[in-house]
Amino acid sequence: MNRRLCLITGASAGIGAEFARQYAALGWNLVLTARREDRLQALADEIRTRSGVDVTVMAEDLADPAAPARLVAALEGQGLAVDALVNNAGYGLPGTFFSTRWEDQAAFLQVLYTAPIELTHRLLPGMAARRFGRIINVASLAGYAAGSAGHTLYASVKAGLIKFSESINAECDALGHTDLHCTALCPGFTFSEFHDVNGTREATKQMPSWLWMDAAPVVAAGIEAVNRGRPVVVPGPVNKVMATLTRILPEPLGRAMVRAQSSRYRRMD
Ligand SMILES: NC(=O)c1ccc[n+]([C@@H]2O[C@H](COP(=O)([O-])OP(=O)(O)OC[C@H]3O[C@@H](n4cnc5c(N)ncnc54)[C@H](OP(=O)(O)O)[C@@H]3O)[C@@H](O)[C@H]2O)c1
Repeated sequence: MNRRLCLITGASAGIGAEFARQYAALGWNLVLTARREDRLQALADEIRTRSGVDVTVMAEDLADPAAPARLVAALEGQGLAVDALVNNAGYGLPGTFFSTRWEDQAAFLQVLYTAPIELTHRLLPGMAARRFGRIINVASLAGYAAGSAGHTLYASVKAGLIKFSESINAECDALGHTDLHCTALCPGFTFSEFHDVNGTREATKQMPSWLWMDAAPVVAAGIEAVNRGRPVVVPGPVNKVMATLTRILPEPLGRAMVRAQSSRYRRMD
């Protein structure tokens, strides 16, 4: 059967694993990547059994600047043409710009910014030639809000991914690629392993439950938005209200609100 193929980064947990389950349920074959190969293999087995699609595992550390080119070469080597790319791998880097090592900031930029952009650059021409493509960049509501103290580059990188997605979407339209779309998916607080990895679970547990979403509706919103050719989507009514507030509140007020609240979800130590 001639199925479409989706490459998902950060597929070993959380939002990425949910993207894998939902694209498989839609009948797509998958390539899953992340560092933890055992997790990827377990998810691949689960999905093959449940959905009957082909799942290929390619473990990579996206902090390695050579990883995106290696991934694309491995795909080409196996004759796998990518129809959808989900740039999802990510994490928060706790601490301030003062307290962190440059090596850790550079790795953060590589995983969350350069790798998604390079993968897009390498895979877009094939999508254009085949006249079909979907690119979802998992950004964040943080890309709308003011920058915060702690986790210094997170908001910058996510804001950059939103702008990048808008530009690629506009270029696809301007160049007449009518079935080639790029969308920034901007979740708010979403249940996953994200807050365990960055050490903010205890603090974020205190936040009201209405602020949180499950990964399933977040992912569904991303897939629907990219199919419709929307450059940006904010999933869920609460997140939509917050995104709107960041646009209509006076900037000093928005900054003051982030300053007052950010210690609940950002670590300064
Ligand atoms: N959860 C939220 O509240 C929230 C809100 C807004 C945006 N987001 C964004 O959503 C995306 C997914 O996060 P999540 O919430 O699903 O977190 P998660 O459950 O911690 O999953 C993160 C994924 O990224 C992968 N990853 C991390 N570092 C990597 C590296 N160096 N190389 C390759 N893969 C790497 C992890 O796999 P390995 O550890 O196996 O490598 C894992 O599969 C991120 O971009 C995050 O910024 C999350």
